[in-house]
Amino acid sequence: MAIKNIDRRLSIAPMMDHTDKHFRYFMRLLSRHAVLYTEMITTGALIYGDRKRFLDFNSIEHPLAIQLGGNNPDDLSECALISESEGYDEINLNIGCPSDRVQNGQFGACLMSNAKLVGDCVNRIQSKVKIPVTVKTRIGIDEQDSYEFLYDFIQTVSEAGCTAFIIHARKAILTGLSPKQNREIPPLNYERVYKIKQAFPALNITINGGFTELVQICSQLQHVDGVMVGRAAYQDPFMLAEADKFLFADPSTPQTREEILDRFKHYVAEQVSLGVGIKNLTRHIIGLYQGQPGARQYRRKLSDALPEGIDPIQFLDTVIRSVSNHKY
Ligand SMILES: Cc1cc2nc3c(=O)[nH]c(=O)nc-3n(C[C@H](O)[C@H](O)[C@H](O)COP(=O)(O)O)c2cc1C
Repeated sequence: MAIKNIDRRLSIAPMMDHTDKHFRYFMRLLSRHAVLYTEMITTGALIYGDRKRFLDFNSIEHPLAIQLGGNNPDDLSECALISESEGYDEINLNIGCPSDRVQNGQFGACLMSNAKLVGDCVNRIQSKVKIPVTVKTRIGIDEQDSYEFLYDFIQTVSEAGCTAFIIHARKAILTGLSPKQNREIPPLNYERVYKIKQAFPALNITINGGFTELVQICSQLQHVDGVMVGRAAYQDPFMLAEADKFLFADPSTPQTREEILDRFKHYVAEQVSLGVGIKNLTRHIIGLYQGQPGARQYRRKLSDALPEGIDPIQFLDTVIRSVSNHKY
């Protein structure tokens, strides 16, 4: 079966309430090559919910992966088929979310203890679609946190047909920690992920967790095939501005914050004309001047109450000018 070849050296993590299509469009202005992920979408939401809203994306977003949450091979493969026909480039299975809601549905991180079922899900999805099926997981859950546990999980799921894994390099603690704490409290263990790459050299292994600078990303690529960036892409998106140049030898991506904003403002104008609230768009670019002179001014301008019917281009031009004035 012909499998689309996706360059996975850099990817932007799935993040609920963050990585909607507007944020992904913004990310694409910073890197033309990073693989972008949707927020997790449950099989129930896709089968019974507002499918168009969940699946909609802009063609600029490719390569684009949809992340599915579920544990039923039939439902997952149905959702995968729908996603493939909508034009997604990859199906990713969430085996890392520790939230109570997800645990009650018996999917997400708790499925790490049922590698056979995860393998069945991968296998069934692959029987329906031609695009790659990947798994995003943790290094362990609760007391099941040994290297052998992770090794067995990867072995079982890869034998079922999965050839690319994204590993968030900390375990999930399923009781007593919120999802936010589960991204901060269990310690990162990058060595564990490197060891998996050494044990399974033919698998494509992406490491995730705690990367905030491009130089770190570049050095991780000596150990693994790819790096996935989550919170830093949201909080300090400009850290990715030179990714295309250094990782993909592509110097054509805009290099200044002002150029990026200038391109985003046209997207904002288009979306506002389609009825999207301007704040639903500008909320994603609040971090663009992180650490720069004028950053506070910029954030305040973006968060201010906007006059009714304000022209989005004019508004964003004023914002750009206000930071520039602050700088020079
Ligand atoms: C607000 C938020 C929402 C998240 N939602 C998801 C999600 O839907 N699916 C998922 O696999 N991981 C989710 N994550 C976890 C991230 O994908 C990533 O694994 C984690 O943040 C660690 O990477 P980082 O240190 O680069 O942020 C979320 C993280 C954040 C901060």
